[in-house]
Amino acid sequence: MRIVSGIQPTGNLHLGNYLGAIRNWVRMQDSMEEGSQCLFFLADLHAISMPHVPAELSAATLEMAAALVACGIDPDRSILFNQAQVPAHCELQWMLNGTARMGWLNRMTQFKDKSGKNREGASVALFTYPVLQAADVLLYQATHVPVGEDQKQHLELARDIAQKFNNDFCTEDAPVFTLPDPIIPPEAARIMSLRDGSAKMSKSDPSEMSRIELADDADTIMKKIKKAKTDPEPLPSETAGLEGRPEAANLVGIYATMAGVTPEDVLRDFGGEGFGKFKPALGELLAETLGPIGRRFAELKSDREELDAILARGALEAREIARPTLDAAYKALGLVRGG
Ligand code: TYM
Repeated sequence: MRIVSGIQPTGNLHLGNYLGAIRNWVRMQDSMEEGSQCLFFLADLHAISMPHVPAELSAATLEMAAALVACGIDPDRSILFNQAQVPAHCELQWMLNGTARMGWLNRMTQFKDKSGKNREGASVALFTYPVLQAADVLLYQATHVPVGEDQKQHLELARDIAQKFNNDFCTEDAPVFTLPDPIIPPEAARIMSLRDGSAKMSKSDPSEMSRIELADDADTIMKKIKKAKTDPEPLPSETAGLEGRPEAANLVGIYATMAGVTPEDVLRDFGGEGFGKFKPALGELLAETLGPIGRRFAELKSDREELDAILARGALEAREIARPTLDAAYKALGLVRGG
């Protein structure tokens, strides 16, 4: 097994990232078998597809590395790096741009969401972003890619690109790329905003009240949960009663995922209770679990030297693993490199 996944170093790590992806990364790392490998990276190259402030990006890249280590990514067992230190990501992206079709990219919902009404003004990088994402995983022959639901379409595209490249440029018995499988946690595939049960929890939401961040202290977590949008009804005793109540369903789902129980279990305990009782219990559960992560993050994020060293070491290993696939892709395309 080769497990590969990434996160953009924009904004702070939030509960959606944690439950949808990072917690799974840590679990996969911790249960890795002999001969398997985990590569986790900061998608700093993806971050420049939107307007950004350079000094903020470099600080955020190091902070996100600290956040991942605080969550349990162990740089001695997983390879942790940032894309910008592994030029093979860009090289392979360019080669895959020859295989990806305009029609495929035109169907990507994230591009439509992020470009909005300003399609003509969007960067070319935002449009070809999914091709870089394909390069990120195909470069390492990833077999499994743990992500939240919103990345599923991008991974299907990565599979399509790999398949077409293998068909067009390789013999059947010597394909260059492995087709990766997404790993999406059913219970936390899509954590929603605390202010709007129809929008996913996101770093780009202008309201900080919409998300719990991993660095939030216990008081802030409790305040955000107490202010979370809900309806006036008490909680139902069965999950069927959550239908048409997205905010209530989201909070029950978060509770269940954090506590490692099912939504049915949560409703068995809280069915018939109002949010006045449920919210403080959820706030406490979150503060208890996230507290140690937040404290470790605060310690690590100022250790610039250590973070630089972790990323440099990770990049060195990533470059080694990438080399044979990169060489094979150049060769398959008939590109002459000499040497
Ligand atoms: P990003 O940085 O937006 O998010 C990182 C991970 O968190 C998941 N996630 C969520 N899961 C559940 N509920 C939510 N509300 C929620 N919000 C975010 C995302 O699905 C993701 O797994 N394009 C990617 C980064 C990337 C990547 C890759 C991922 C670049 N190359 C290669 C996998 C493989 C992104 O912007 O994720």
